[in-house]
Amino acid sequence: MSPVAFKSLDDLLAEGVSGRGVLVRSDLNVPIDDDGNITDPGRIIASAPTLKALADAGAKVVVTAHLGRPHGGSDPALSLAPVAKALGQLFGADHVQLAGDVVGPDALVRAEGLSEGDILLLENIRFDPRETSKDDAERLALATQLVELVGGPDGSAGAFVSDGFGVVHRKQASVYDVAQLLPHYAGNLVAAEIRVLEQLTSSTEQPYAVVLGGSKVSDKLAVIENLATTADRLVIGGGMCFTFLAAQGVPVGSSLLENGMIDTCRRLLDTYGDVIALPVDIVVAERFAADAEPQTVPANRIPDTRMGLDIGPASVQQFTALLSNARTIFWNGPMGVFEFPAFAAGTKGVAEAIIAATGNGAFSVVGGGDSAAAVRQLGLAENGFSHISTGGGASLEYLEGKTLPGIEVLTG
Ligand code: 3PG
Repeated sequence: MSPVAFKSLDDLLAEGVSGRGVLVRSDLNVPIDDDGNITDPGRIIASAPTLKALADAGAKVVVTAHLGRPHGGSDPALSLAPVAKALGQLFGADHVQLAGDVVGPDALVRAEGLSEGDILLLENIRFDPRETSKDDAERLALATQLVELVGGPDGSAGAFVSDGFGVVHRKQASVYDVAQLLPHYAGNLVAAEIRVLEQLTSSTEQPYAVVLGGSKVSDKLAVIENLATTADRLVIGGGMCFTFLAAQGVPVGSSLLENGMIDTCRRLLDTYGDVIALPVDIVVAERFAADAEPQTVPANRIPDTRMGLDIGPASVQQFTALLSNARTIFWNGPMGVFEFPAFAAGTKGVAEAIIAATGNGAFSVVGGGDSAAAVRQLGLAENGFSHISTGGGASLEYLEGKTLPGIEVLTG
């Protein structure tokens, strides 16, 4: 893939933004617990530099973002209020406000009242069903209303900064359509993420090892097909490994299994058997619970009444050996249920192997989502990796070779 050319945040700052309305699409989709506490603020922290640069330069910053996947309108449980609070802690509560709606009267009044350096976060953009509509006209209507929030009183246009890397694979109003209506720029986060993915795909130093986990083979099929031809090693753990083990004719007990994917896994093993590495032992339990009794068994001896919840220590050792001489590593998806301490050792062990390889000069990328959360929750050093992406789905689609609408639109 040839390098993507787009205007950058620096270009916009050089044009001058003081007093100008700037619409920013950020990905602030962070995990929030039942008490409304943000359990992993990674995406907020990663979004802050672009917002700070604009606020410091005197822009009137209007931020649009989503939280979760609300269906059919507003859902108080998915309000961006906790995120607005976190932004207030970063930038000063006096400079950050949350609109009570998306593009409604409250957002309009607040946008008009913004002072230079202020940040207005709009309520969850997905509360407006037009955001995710497949109908171009519906999305365009919402995008037009978003643009009105950053237009000058004299009708002059604001600018759009695309900084939500985690959503650039979505053809949605606040990601794609607004960029067609306003002068558009890649924010610092989007630009950095694209640079890393370009390096990963165009100047890949060999040996190249890919580590894939997570629950479903079907989610990763396209990336497996694509990477199996370029990677020297494709290490597979997590819930998806059981469908591969089943494809080898091994009993997997009550482990996660995608029956419809067994034939596909068999074909992948037949074609890429010398590249794909599967675990040799599994930590099993009787039930899916933090306090379930863990037991390690060989990968081909999972009892009927047990489910696999992590890869075992021999697998960690085997995967560590495979990763030790890699020069490039891409990791997406945990090796087990790392949220339960008794089943976190596999994910931790593989992460530590990647950190060790990085220390020896490998270029390593953690592909967002659960693996990025695992790094932080397991207390691993974030700077032990070359890059931790904020976009799980987006980085996978990039590696599948797909065109990402939110990136493509910035090049026009
Ligand atoms: C993510 O969590 O990967 C991004 O925020 C995108 O969310 P989505 O998959 O709901 O579009």
